[in-house]
Amino acid sequence: MKHEALPHISLGRLKLKNGLWLAPMAGITNGPFRLLCSRGGAGLVVTEMVSADSLRYGNRKSMRMLDITPGERPVAVQIFGADPQAMALAAKLAEEAGADVIDINAGCPVKKVLRSGAGSALMKRPGLLADIVAAVVGAVKVPVTVKTRVGLKTGTVLGPELARLAEGEGAAAVVIHGRYAEAFHTGPVDLDAVAATAAAVKIPVIGNGGVKDAATAGAMLEAGCAGAAVGRAAVGNPFVFSEIESGLAGRPARERGPEDAINLFLEFLELNCGVYGPENGVVRARKLIGYCLKGLQGAAALRGAFMEKKNLNDAKALLVEYLHSSRR
Ligand SMILES: Cc1cc2nc3c(=O)[nH]c(=O)nc-3n(C[C@H](O)[C@H](O)[C@H](O)COP(=O)(O)O)c2cc1C
Repeated sequence: MKHEALPHISLGRLKLKNGLWLAPMAGITNGPFRLLCSRGGAGLVVTEMVSADSLRYGNRKSMRMLDITPGERPVAVQIFGADPQAMALAAKLAEEAGADVIDINAGCPVKKVLRSGAGSALMKRPGLLADIVAAVVGAVKVPVTVKTRVGLKTGTVLGPELARLAEGEGAAAVVIHGRYAEAFHTGPVDLDAVAATAAAVKIPVIGNGGVKDAATAGAMLEAGCAGAAVGRAAVGNPFVFSEIESGLAGRPARERGPEDAINLFLEFLELNCGVYGPENGVVRARKLIGYCLKGLQGAAALRGAFMEKKNLNDAKALLVEYLHSSRR
């Protein structure tokens, strides 16, 4: 079935090949994973959220989160915080580290983030959010985007007002998660609220929430969005972006089997160990394995066995053995 075509998107002078973005995911969208998504057809990949306060104090772990892997461009660094000056400094550091775009987190409902007054807490304080967007836009030359939610409580729509605010302060695009903050990451997406947000501004609005294929991405385009941001559907399948693009153009996507899933995870593992070392890289890959093995025969046992592995060689041997036994 042919859906609405993907429009071309520009963020300031930055032209994107498409409007299919990788949504930021803490603990998941690190450099190696973003590289796979770029190769898998994403028009823009986004880092995990990075704390502006931690960057201000030179926290090494947060500074490392600004590392960009060759080949993953264009890439946005997402920052969170509640202090305009700290956010401006964080944006500058991210720009110096090579970010093509700075994304402001104004939608995260996680307690730790809310306690600092950041993330979706900013939706309650539009004046402060406006100051943050203005400070960040003023601090960097690269385009600035804002990721927020359609609202805090179900049915009370704030998206259009927040998008207008972001546009008014110079943001180049808005990513709108169609779920209310109180719903975290589950439940239905309010497409009417997404459509109202897209209609409220001239800058591109990227729809997010439950996008996993051409039909769900097409629904965001029909709601007036210029593109869609994919979160969890990309975790087990970084090729989801090119599959969506093909589907929207009416072309069938290539079928992917268990071998593709294992090979992809092996590739991720190698890349991850290249960045974090042969032991830490394996430990850090644990968060992804459940997504990558979803639907495979014996996935639970394989996942359990992987959790025991402490270095790259042992982890690879386990996955290769699974591949061989699944061919028998
Ligand atoms: C594990 C996980 C971590 C996330 N971390 C972030 C984050 O760092 N910043 C952010 O703005 N959103 C974060 N999100 C929200 C996603 O960007 C996205 O809005 C949400 O998952 C809905 O998209 P989806 O239905 O395609 O997964 C996270 C979501 C998940 C599941």
